[in-house]
Amino acid sequence: MIETKELNVVTGAFSFTGSYIAQRLLSMGESVRTLTNRPDDENPFGPQVEALPLNFDKPGELTDSLRGARTLYNTYWIRFPHGRVSFDRAVENSRTLIRAAEEAGIRRIVHMGITNPSADSALPYFRGKALVEEAITRSKLSYAIVRPTVIFGTEGILINNIAWLLRRFPVFAVPGSGDYRIQPVFVEDVAEIAVSAGHQDDNAIMDAVGPETFTFNELVRLIASRINSRARIVHIRPRLAYSLARLIGGAVRDVVITRDEIDGLMSNLLISKGGPTAPTRFSLWLGQNADKVGRRYISGLERRYR
Ligand SMILES: NC(=O)c1ccc[n+]([C@@H]2O[C@H](COP(=O)([O-])OP(=O)(O)OC[C@H]3O[C@@H](n4cnc5c(N)ncnc54)[C@H](OP(=O)(O)O)[C@@H]3O)[C@@H](O)[C@H]2O)c1
Repeated sequence: MIETKELNVVTGAFSFTGSYIAQRLLSMGESVRTLTNRPDDENPFGPQVEALPLNFDKPGELTDSLRGARTLYNTYWIRFPHGRVSFDRAVENSRTLIRAAEEAGIRRIVHMGITNPSADSALPYFRGKALVEEAITRSKLSYAIVRPTVIFGTEGILINNIAWLLRRFPVFAVPGSGDYRIQPVFVEDVAEIAVSAGHQDDNAIMDAVGPETFTFNELVRLIASRINSRARIVHIRPRLAYSLARLIGGAVRDVVITRDEIDGLMSNLLISKGGPTAPTRFSLWLGQNADKVGRRYISGLERRYR
């Protein structure tokens, strides 16, 4: 008897969360194809993962690239507008992908969202995410929508760059009071939640959130103490924090944080209203990775565009 492996398509298997989802599927003996903007980059998985273009301008090609798979794991989204890709365009692109999946006969989509999306949000990231969720729930596909908070792991940008700032400068500026909260989740836990949801059939929407909630002040102090940073932690107006971030961004040739990201953080959008759904404690991971985290700045722009 010929045994055929289940085929999954993962968008962004060479990127952060997608690579952990792909790894997990492969370790379970399943096949993975990825759709990426960088199909010709060095493939960390070698021949076991086929890489095809994530080209939203060619929906027919997208449909062909999705044929034969049962499940689509969709990680596609943008952190901030850049070049010709705005949030509106990212929503349109996501709709194109969903239509292509329907046409290709994909049965299930596991979609990476964000905690607390809202079509009424003033923040385009959270509004766009809500619109994409709406397109998914209206589609013919069976779906699992996984909504993480801030994801931590070796390649995670936010935590690493907070640590980098704390190592590098004598002062760390917290926007506003720092009393707003954050509930980080480990990237391997997110992948586990996503793949387990992919193996089910019911429509479901779930938060992917870790067991620890910190105020931003607590988070920064915890990172500082684990990496032995002596930086003085001060509080400044969010607008000034953003200006400072832009200044540092100019030096490291990156967008360190956007105004919207500061607002999202300060609006308590990166916590769940439900209980924790992932086991890994940020404090434990940080202790185990303290000598590595923040040793070098991770540039989102460099990762993507250079
Ligand atoms: N990282 C977090 O802390 C976090 C927190 C909450 C929710 N999420 C959500 O989880 C999902 C995965 O996040 P991630 O950080 O793992 O994403 P990522 O690695 O940056 O990228 C995921 C996918 O989106 C594509 N992409 C990203 N920025 C793009 C741009 N500006 N133009 C075109 N394509 C772009 C990537 O293309 P390539 O294939 O070319 O790399 C990849 O296919 C996203 O939906 C995100 O909104 C992430």
